[in-house]
Amino acid sequence: MAIVRLPGLIDPHVHLREPGATHKEDFESGTRAALAGGFTMVLAMPNTQPPLIDSGSLAHAETAAAQKAVCDYGLHLGASRLNVETAAALSERVTGLKIYLDATYGALQVADLGVIREHFGRWPSQRPILCHAEDRLLATVLMLAFLEKRSVHICHVSRRAEIELIRDAKMRGLAVTCEVAPHHLYLSQDNIPRLGNGRSEVRPRLATPDDAKALWENMEFIDCVATDHAPHTLAEKDSDTPPPGFPGLETALPLMFRAVHENRLTLDDLLERMYQAPRRIFQLPQQPDTWIEVDADAEWIIPNSLVSRCGWTPFAGERVFGRVERVFLRGQLVYDQGEFRAAPGFGRNVAPHYRSITSEVQNQ
Ligand code: NCD
Ligand code: ZN
Ligand code: ZN
Ligand code: ZN
Repeated sequence: MAIVRLPGLIDPHVHLREPGATHKEDFESGTRAALAGGFTMVLAMPNTQPPLIDSGSLAHAETAAAQKAVCDYGLHLGASRLNVETAAALSERVTGLKIYLDATYGALQVADLGVIREHFGRWPSQRPILCHAEDRLLATVLMLAFLEKRSVHICHVSRRAEIELIRDAKMRGLAVTCEVAPHHLYLSQDNIPRLGNGRSEVRPRLATPDDAKALWENMEFIDCVATDHAPHTLAEKDSDTPPPGFPGLETALPLMFRAVHENRLTLDDLLERMYQAPRRIFQLPQQPDTWIEVDADAEWIIPNSLVSRCGWTPFAGERVFGRVERVFLRGQLVYDQGEFRAAPGFGRNVAPHYRSITSEVQNQ
């Protein structure tokens, strides 16, 4: 048994469902799932109920997270049609501004090109904007980033045409970064009959095997592997109106470790995408005395249900490699072979770090 010690992983894209849908997940269950998956820091998305689009809704989520999280975290703010000025004023309390150009789960969608451009112009240029922008809308946000002379981070890239556009934009010097989710690397439309219609619903939708192949082929242009952990209960997935989304926190590392085992990726490639790049892109603070211990040779089959409250995973039955044995966060053993040792509230918000970044920029 070869135990390797790795840095605590960072997931810049998770949905923890609090406030509003804590029967699916909450800050405690979601950050427990994170620790079990080897993540010591997660950045949570704003498509909650209510969505995080102003100071009051943000304060509500900040309080709940401070009381319940067991790993460190940040919150992304949501863009709306009406919050251009409000959002910019809140930038130091959050890890980024999320703009939903496409319709997806939840009510947050900004459909108006003019408003999207205003957000690109107004949000502080040194802080990240993240976009859910598929297909032609990807070209829209790349153009806006170019015209407004700022960076943009593209969430959950899933198609050949998209990763090729990002590759070419990068080669022309655009400040674009992107993430891919393990389900778009490992699953395709071919898996829909096996998973069933409700359980295969996800945004972006599962794509063709050729799209998945293009993601693997363009790994050098993929900055981050982010889970897009989007828990919905099995009853909801099997209902007549299945919401889109897959849980992912507990399966990402073993799935990517399998790619290392199969020599499709080096361990350094994995750590670049699941630790270094997220830290750099989202300007996250160091976590001192923080590491995970992984049994690199453990070979196991993903079970039906994991720590996440949602109670299922589309990867059940997959053979994977690498098992998280222990997690140390800021010097404390917080996860030990299935047992959680951190009290709710042990996790810290990374946001106070941003005030120092802003003053550094101002002092230059
Ligand atoms: C996400 C969710 O459930 O919040 N669903 C999904 O299918 N990915 C929303 C999103 O990330 O688009
Ligand atoms: Zn999305
Ligand atoms: Zn998402
Ligand atoms: Zn081996």
